[in-house]
Amino acid sequence: MAGLCEGRVVVVTGAGRGLGRAHALAFAAEGAKVVVNDLGVGLDGRPDPQSPAAQVVREIEELGGQAVAHGGDIATAQGADCLVRAAVDAFGRLDTLVNNAGFLRDRMLVNLDEGDWDAVVRVHLKGHFLPLRSAAAWWRAEAKAGRPVAARVVNTSSGAGLLGSVGQGNYSAAKAGILGLTLVAAAELGRYGVQVNAIAPAARTRMTEQTFAQAMAAPEDGGFDTMAPENVSPLVVWLGADASAGVSGRVFETEGGRITVMEGWRPGPTADRGARWTPAQAGEAAVKLLAAAEPPLPVYGSQ
Ligand SMILES: NC(=O)c1ccc[n+]([C@@H]2O[C@H](COP(=O)([O-])OP(=O)(O)OC[C@H]3O[C@@H](n4cnc5c(N)ncnc54)[C@H](O)[C@@H]3O)[C@@H](O)[C@H]2O)c1
Repeated sequence: MAGLCEGRVVVVTGAGRGLGRAHALAFAAEGAKVVVNDLGVGLDGRPDPQSPAAQVVREIEELGGQAVAHGGDIATAQGADCLVRAAVDAFGRLDTLVNNAGFLRDRMLVNLDEGDWDAVVRVHLKGHFLPLRSAAAWWRAEAKAGRPVAARVVNTSSGAGLLGSVGQGNYSAAKAGILGLTLVAAAELGRYGVQVNAIAPAARTRMTEQTFAQAMAAPEDGGFDTMAPENVSPLVVWLGADASAGVSGRVFETEGGRITVMEGWRPGPTADRGARWTPAQAGEAAVKLLAAAEPPLPVYGSQ
């Protein structure tokens, strides 16, 4: 039976490990040709001599698939342009971009230094924008040349971006920014045949080893491993396939066997005085509105 991504060319950033590796293998299993990008950095973004992208390419080839490794930094314009070029040079086209690469430098806000803020915002937010821009330029040129485009982008946000996470101010801000970028990209690129969606995954990887190690260890009895990164990939593959036609600008939480559509910001209770409020009146109105509103979901780690 033909796979869901037969003939498609897919780029996955940060695909040497964790979720990205699982996505790359899952796309290949559905017939895609895959560009496995990974700079091969340590958990804190500093250089790691054991770059894993080539290893994932070997795994895909051993399973009969086609893949090439790319070692560029996706948070530079040069790395992002060269990544899109790698797909076109190796396989003649690009159909799907999965933005996934990133790292953490967790600190409480009062201790969060500027370098750790910049590094995390750079790798996630800029690291989504630049490959998206390079890929979009390629797809726009294809569309303008009259060739059919059914392109897909899957961005990677986080529960931290949706609700906030204590000790992760830099990461939460970057991941929330990715949600905004996703909405704008979906609205701007639809005319070229490009769909853009985002996921907020949860899985046991080196990034979350500490968080999930005890509570969510792999079951020893061979039962369903709810925190395996491979659980997140099926939705990513579908969003990256032709089959998801018509779905764009949406955000999904996905973990274990659960998929949730996130419904995002929408107006709650409103008051309109028809004139400017005084601060005291505005406060009185705000208190009434808050009493009528849904309480917010708690910030991760705050309770
Ligand atoms: N694991 C989770 O539960 C979880 C939850 C929410 C969001 N996420 C997000 O999922 C994505 C994947 O995370 P993971 O848990 O698999 O982490 P991971 O550390 O296992 O993998 C991330 C990979 O990105 C690579 N990378 C880092 N900077 C790069 C750069 N500049 N260019 C190219 N590659 C780079 C790293 O070398 C690494 O292999 C991240 O965006 C993360 O924020 C993960």
